[in-house]
Amino acid sequence: MQEEIIERIIFKTVDIPSLPPIAMKVMSLIQDDYASLKSLEEIISRDQGFATRLLRIANSPYYGRDRKIENIPQALLIIGFETLKSLVIATSLRDLHRRFGIFEQRLWEHSLGVALCSSLLAMVTHIATTDDALVCGLIHDVGKTVINNTIPELYMQIYDRMTKEKRMLLEIEDEALGFNHTVIGSLISKKWKLPEKLEKVITYHHTYPYPDHEDQAYADICNVVRVADQICLNLGIGLKDPFTTNIDHESLGITEEELNELIGLFKIKFDKQKDFLLS
Ligand SMILES: [Fe+2]
Ligand SMILES: [Fe+2]
Repeated sequence: MQEEIIERIIFKTVDIPSLPPIAMKVMSLIQDDYASLKSLEEIISRDQGFATRLLRIANSPYYGRDRKIENIPQALLIIGFETLKSLVIATSLRDLHRRFGIFEQRLWEHSLGVALCSSLLAMVTHIATTDDALVCGLIHDVGKTVINNTIPELYMQIYDRMTKEKRMLLEIEDEALGFNHTVIGSLISKKWKLPEKLEKVITYHHTYPYPDHEDQAYADICNVVRVADQICLNLGIGLKDPFTTNIDHESLGITEEELNELIGLFKIKFDKQKDFLLS
C-alpha cells in the first residue's frame, strides 16, 4: 500500500522515460543464442554514431588492449556479449539527459569516476569482476538523471540546500520530494526490465548493510559501488558532496594504506582517461 502511494507520487512528480530505443532492442537479446549475437552486431552497426561512441569506449585506456578494435564484430569478440550489451545500456544513459549543461556534465563525470573506481576496487578485492563493476558504476545514479530531466530547477535547489545546510543529498531529496534518487532508480530499473544486478546496484548503492530480505548474491557489487561513490564524492570528482566524509574501506576488507594506494592510482588513471571518455 505504502509503495503504491509512493509510486503514484513519483509518477505525478517525475516523468519516467522509456529506455532509449537501441538499448531496448539490445536488452531483449539472450546471450547464448547465435541469432542474438548477429542481431547485436546489426543493431549497433546500423546506428553509426552510436557504434563510433561504443568503439571509443572499447578502445579506451580502461580496456588497455594492444590491438585497436575497428568494428563491432571485433568488439563482440574481444569484450564479449554481456559486457558489450551492458555498455550499450550505459552509453545510452548519456543520451537520456535532456540537456547537457555544466550540471549534467558533472553528473556524467561522477558516473565515469564511480565506474572506474569501482572497477579498481573490484580488481583489488576480487569480490566482483572489473567489467561488471564498470557498468554498475556507470549506471548507479540513473535516478538523478531522471529527476533532473523532469524538475531541473527544483533539483538544483536541492543541491544548493545540500551545500548550504551541510547535509547529505539523500536526506534533502527525501525531505523536498518525498523520495530519493535510489527510489526513482529502482522504479526505472523495473520499468526498463534491467538485469537484476544493475537494478540492485541502482537501488542499494547507499544502503549498508545490504537488506536481509534480498538475495545476498548482489551484496558485494552493491558495496563496491557504494565505497567507490564515497571515494569520488570525497575527491570531488564530478559532483561534490563534502558531507559524505566516511570511506568505508573496512567493509571491503582493505586497510587504510591499501585504500590510499588505490586512491593514488585512481587519480592518475582518471586524469588520463577523463578527457577521452568525456569528449
Ligand atoms: Fe547515488
Ligand atoms: Fe553516486
